[in-house]
Amino acid sequence: MRILTGIQPSGALHLGNYFGAMLPAIQLQDQGEAFYFIADYHSMTSLTDAAARRRYTFDVALDFLACGLDPARCIFWKQSDTPEHTELAWILSTVTPMGLLERCHSFKDKVAKLGDGEVGSVNHGLFAYPVLMAADILLYDSNIVPVGKDQKQHLEVTRDIAIKFNLLYGDTFVVPEPRIQESVAVVPGLDGQKMSKSYGNTIELFGEEKATRKKIMGIVMDSRTPAEPKPDAEKNIAIQLLRLVAPAEVATDLEDRLRAGGLGYGDLKKALFERYWEHFTPARARRAELAADPVHVRKVLDDGAARAREIARRTLSRARKACGLD
Ligand code: ADP
Ligand code: TRP
Repeated sequence: MRILTGIQPSGALHLGNYFGAMLPAIQLQDQGEAFYFIADYHSMTSLTDAAARRRYTFDVALDFLACGLDPARCIFWKQSDTPEHTELAWILSTVTPMGLLERCHSFKDKVAKLGDGEVGSVNHGLFAYPVLMAADILLYDSNIVPVGKDQKQHLEVTRDIAIKFNLLYGDTFVVPEPRIQESVAVVPGLDGQKMSKSYGNTIELFGEEKATRKKIMGIVMDSRTPAEPKPDAEKNIAIQLLRLVAPAEVATDLEDRLRAGGLGYGDLKKALFERYWEHFTPARARRAELAADPVHVRKVLDDGAARAREIARRTLSRARKACGLD
């Protein structure tokens, strides 16, 4: 069984990315042949700062490796080191109906967000994004693609494209199954909305200590006094985050004390910061070691790319033959 997923280097990774995407991927790495890549081509659709892309790409590599992704148990590489993705994307684009892409929520949302004022800000890459994603997936004969709910439609597009190509040119691609992480609750951000870098409400995975403490201490709660019982304690943002970063009994104890009354919000937020900091302390130490050895990190990605490329070339050659390019 082949498992494949990608993550864009478009900003500092946060707790939402970690619990929603990275941790499930790390836990899946022993369930089959795992292929994980840094989707730097995809990041070009929204990020045009070259230095930032380079830095984020390196940071995503550090974050993943520090959190337990093991290059001995999976193939980990940078997407643009296997340029076969772009050739296959072209081939696939010729069997992709325009309507399929026009219906994509993620494209429609981005167009709406970019606004009418900025003519030219909606680039073709944004529109073609799901086709490149289909190429990423089909190039490795992936069976299982673990993604968050927001990517479900892109996976359906991939399946449609694979089926259409197979119909037109004969059986060439494995049609992948989505593995939607419905069970992973959406991690709330500092303001209670979904944690997302586009909302500016994130707790970074490896943020700087002082700044992160300040962010957490700044979470706005209601005006009830510490003594007042809080029957809705389970809905409190700090409690929800504590559920993720603290041992269950610690989170339950704080929730019970909040519910009963007597625990102030300041103390609760302080506990959250401490548990968050402690939870990632071992990974933070590994990350610092890795950051001090960029040559090693580069080598991990290069080795991963060489292994990925061999498979990518074989599938691409199969596709080229099927459609008469070879
Ligand atoms: P962002 O919303 O910060 O731009 P991305 O869209 O790049 O994050 O998401 C990368 C991955 O992390 C996706 O698989 C997505 O489902 C997951 N993810 C992002 N935010 C959250 C969240 N708040 N809770 C759970 N999963 C999340
Ligand atoms: N679009 C995905 C996201 O933003 C990232 C991604 C690119 C991906 N190619 C992929 C995920 C292939 C799964 C499979 O989260």
